[in-house]
Amino acid sequence: MRTTTALPAITAALAAAALGAAQPARAASGSELARGKALHNQACLACHDPSVYTRPNHKIRSLAALRRQVSGCQQAAGANWSPAERAAVIDYLNRTFYHFPEGGGHG
Ligand code: HEC
Repeated sequence: MRTTTALPAITAALAAAALGAAQPARAASGSELARGKALHNQACLACHDPSVYTRPNHKIRSLAALRRQVSGCQQAAGANWSPAERAAVIDYLNRTFYHFPEGGGHG
């Protein structure tokens, strides 16, 4: 455990030094994505794996529809997420699988 945690810490420290801590927004969005993925993988793999997101006839066709589906599936999964946590999962799914334009969703 000790040896596996030391390396990422060193890598992160080196990366922070290299960036001069100049890009907090980018670092934050990267960790949000990791958080969304972790939440998703904890709660969402009981009924389907991520292949449903990319199946040829996948039914989600907009960011708004994705938000609705995640809300519904979150209840089905019994995941007690805050709005921020749900948003992190939606962001993870959109950036990883769906690639809808952000902010342009309606309907
Ligand atoms: C209780 C079972 C169950 C759990 C748990 C579950 N889902 Fe689902 N989910 C489904 C079913 C069933 C479908 C397919 C619905 C359909 O085909 O009409 C689906 C479909 C989806 C889709 C749409 C896929 C497409 O076709 O584009 C998304 C997105 C999704 N789920 C997200 C999630 C997320 C996020 C979680 C975790 C919070 C989750 N699901 C947990 C049952 C579940």
